[in-house]
Amino acid sequence: MLMLWLKALHIIFVITWFAGLFYLPRLFVYHAALGGSDPAGAERFKIMERRLFTMMTVGGVLAVLFGGATLGQAPGFMQTGWMHAKLTLVAGLIAYHVWCYRLLTAFRDNRNQHSERWYRGFNEVPTLFLFGIVILVVVKPF
Ligand code: HEM
Repeated sequence: MLMLWLKALHIIFVITWFAGLFYLPRLFVYHAALGGSDPAGAERFKIMERRLFTMMTVGGVLAVLFGGATLGQAPGFMQTGWMHAKLTLVAGLIAYHVWCYRLLTAFRDNRNQHSERWYRGFNEVPTLFLFGIVILVVVKPF
């Protein structure tokens, strides 16, 4: 029973995390499209980006903590291939999160290097992680 409660909280915070992982790079797309044309608009984007990043970091930390607590209730999962693969993908997702922070600080300091088109590609990456991780935990293919 405890494991199911922990897993429910795990999934709730995974959703919170992904809301940010999907939307922050979308803000970067629109922010990059401004170029230097609208300084007031750019300042508004900076505030939205900072707040969204805070929210998604809270979501990410709690998702990982409740994931770890769920795993603590079912340590046998550590013997499975799908869990190892999942944790590898989670490490990639954390790296993506940190990369988002670096991009956020570049925008904040007016030294963004990337185009709107580049951010559109960057924005697709979390979808790939989502497909991979959900298929691994639900199908448990190996
Ligand atoms: C260090 C990070 C994580 C750990 C330790 C972890 C651990 C776990 C564990 C032990 C379960 C229970 C599996 C089962 O009952 O079959 C679980 C379920 C789940 N996890 Fe994670 N997880 C982590 C990150 C994530 C992330 C980033 C996602 C989403 C992209 C995710 C999505 C899910 C989903 C959807 C389930 C429910 C599967 C089901 O009940 O069928 N987890 N997680």
